[in-house]
Amino acid sequence: MTQATERKQRNELALSGGAQTVDLSPPAWPVASEKEVERMAEVVRSGKWSWFGPHERAFCEDYAAFIGTKHCAAMANGTVTLQCGLQAVGVTPGDEVIVPGLTWVATAQAALDVGANVVLVDIDPETLCLDPAAFEAAITPRTKAVIPVHLYGCMCDMDAIMSIAKKHGIKVVEDVAHQQGSRWRDQGAGAIGDVGSYSFQQSKVLASGEGGAVTCDDSEIYETLFSLKQVGWQSDLSTPGNRYGHNYRITEMQCVLLRGGLERLPAQTARREESVARIATGLAEMGGPLRAVRRDPRVTRQAHYAMTLFFDPDLAEGITRNQYIAALKAEGCPAGSSSYHPVYRSPLLNLYHSTSPVPFRNPDDVQDYASLRLPVTERAVADTAMIIMQTHLLGTDAYIDQILAAIEKVNGNMDGVRSHFAG
Ligand SMILES: Cc1ncc(COP(=O)(O)O)c(C=O)c1O
Repeated sequence: MTQATERKQRNELALSGGAQTVDLSPPAWPVASEKEVERMAEVVRSGKWSWFGPHERAFCEDYAAFIGTKHCAAMANGTVTLQCGLQAVGVTPGDEVIVPGLTWVATAQAALDVGANVVLVDIDPETLCLDPAAFEAAITPRTKAVIPVHLYGCMCDMDAIMSIAKKHGIKVVEDVAHQQGSRWRDQGAGAIGDVGSYSFQQSKVLASGEGGAVTCDDSEIYETLFSLKQVGWQSDLSTPGNRYGHNYRITEMQCVLLRGGLERLPAQTARREESVARIATGLAEMGGPLRAVRRDPRVTRQAHYAMTLFFDPDLAEGITRNQYIAALKAEGCPAGSSSYHPVYRSPLLNLYHSTSPVPFRNPDDVQDYASLRLPVTERAVADTAMIIMQTHLLGTDAYIDQILAAIEKVNGNMDGVRSHFAG
């Protein structure tokens, strides 16, 4: 191949047969060290596989210290943590729980599963997190709790949410499934509301395959959480309590992985922050339709399940976000659309079937999900929201620069993208 042909191939969009820009690979995820492998073998040989063993106790102590709370109860996943968190702050059947319109369906399901009516409200167009004004507007005398979800790479406005919640006597259950280690004015995400709920499912930044935890300061709430996940027992395990509880326990094997992950987490969070800053600067310098979302200065540490990006259709020369994503994807660039859809469109929330709690709600009290429209949520999901998942943010500078080069190439060939889709 001549140099000129090679150059042409490099400049031509991969969408139209040119060379792909990104040829480096992101790091593997999830990861574990030899120390965890050895500890896992010890656990297997020990016969102590569950029931509040030494690894669970050690992890809970370290994790509570990391988040900045007095207590941590580890559980089977990040859905039962939300259920237990809601019940522990006093949510009972028939209460209303306010949930943002953009989140994983489990946030809403957890509230439905404890018999609450889920009221879905709109999000902030920049952060994609719960809009405090929409939260306040949805409050009724039956509202018992709100679940601010710290989504992808932005925290909710916790000043506004806490002040509204306080004014109306509403409990705050933070959903921190995405952001173990974020800090708002130096307070840990999950330590600001009444309880914090975390998922350790394998794609999360702290992972044990499956797993979850709830953190809190209040000792009574902690005892309730413990008995809810430990078939009604108290945390000293000596006396069965008098509360109704389930088996939502975590295993020692999961806690071995979590202890190792927690040791690595601060350095990984710092690396993701560096990559996000590098991408944000690169995008600002090159211009075009894609930019990083604005960093709220009250966020003193941002953990990233993903980097949140904003695609501006007004700057895209008639190209839709999905066409833009297709062009990036062809270049090997991992920037994609929001992995979540408006929650009210989830088949699970619209299932009028005997296996679902939905038909058993009082029709006079409930939101009709099928006809609900939240305009900011819908526009973000369809037209403006983009993300880069956390694993990619752990890549080397060279990998991040290839991502930027792919975006720059597409930005410089918008005519090519347009003609590709026109043809
Ligand atoms: C925002 C959010 N909340 C809750 C959950 C539920 O966590 P789990 O899958 O561990 O049940 C998830 C999981 O993806 C999530 O993303």
